Amino acid sequence: MTEISALKAGLIADIEAADTLDALEGLRVGALGKNGVVTGLLKTLGGMSPEERLEKGPPIQDLRESVTAAIAERKAALEQAALDARLASEKVDMTLPADLGPQGSVHAVSQVMDELAEIFADLGFSVATGPEIEDDWHNFTALNIPETHPARAMHDTFYFPDEEGQKKMLLRTHTSPVQIRTMESFVASGQEPPIRIIAPGRVYRSDSDATHTPMFHQIEGLVIDKGITLGHLKWTLETFLKAFFEREDIVLRLRPSYFPFTEPSVEVDVGYTLTNGQRVIGGDGDAPGGGWLEVLGSGMVNRRVIEACGLDPDEWQGFAFGTGVDRLAMLKYGMNDLRAFFDGDLRWLKHYGFSALDVPTLSGGVGA
Ligand code: PHE
Repeated sequence: MTEISALKAGLIADIEAADTLDALEGLRVGALGKNGVVTGLLKTLGGMSPEERLEKGPPIQDLRESVTAAIAERKAALEQAALDARLASEKVDMTLPADLGPQGSVHAVSQVMDELAEIFADLGFSVATGPEIEDDWHNFTALNIPETHPARAMHDTFYFPDEEGQKKMLLRTHTSPVQIRTMESFVASGQEPPIRIIAPGRVYRSDSDATHTPMFHQIEGLVIDKGITLGHLKWTLETFLKAFFEREDIVLRLRPSYFPFTEPSVEVDVGYTLTNGQRVIGGDGDAPGGGWLEVLGSGMVNRRVIEACGLDPDEWQGFAFGTGVDRLAMLKYGMNDLRAFFDGDLRWLKHYGFSALDVPTLSGGVGA
């Protein structure tokens, strides 16, 4: 009996003194493992007579339980200490000296949105916003996409669960509902066009791979006035793309396309040339080694859309366009994996990020 109490005291002292998880695991194997001392004692119970077992069984069982409990307790303490050490070593020091200057950087998406706002402000556009949680009417119906329209299937929409007596809600699949909200607010406040807005923001589609993320960013443009034509659209896009890519040799290719909310609809490609095996925006895409990249969807605002917002389409016309901000950033700054935009990896941000103090201006160059 005293032998077992001595063994127990020794094991527990060792366990309490173990200063690493590895050392503790070594002790556990030595006591409770297949060939451990405690396991060995437990095995002797099988060969004992009932009387002997009655006498020796309880202290052996008690030994096993005490050792198991001591190991568990020590293990929890060591793990807590390891966590505390990690937390202490990883802490953010809020008292870093201010004379180091700002350590953060502006994300490429924010930078490009600022650049776009600056470029379009110069052309007389203001910035409009709308909700990311949108209703079905603004995201689809008012944009001439009725319930049965195949374009709804094209959008891989995230819908919210239906609620009794509530409008059908969704995460907006594009920034085009801001067109509707802007025209509505003009009508509601008794203001007359001209309307010239851009609407940057987050949009959502159930789609995910190297070039698609379920949340991405678009920017919408809308002009409503009298006598607006495709010529105005083309000039505006050309002026914007020249300012954005900071090159005079931007060549656009307009292709007929289809969007329910524009008629006619135009897809816009921009020419690139290969320089050292890299696609560089600029130049005639039809030149040898060149090509075209699709950058925008656009068109003349469909009269049904103008009407749905309460404006008279015989009096007011306009154009609209929409494009992906993430994609524009990738093209301008030579990034190749969209997923890196969302990793928050400091090394990527340091490499591609922009100084918070370097605000894009047309006079200083929008490209930072
Ligand atoms: N909303 C369209 C899209 O997400 C883009 C677009 C906007 C096309 C405005 C035409 C006019 O693909």
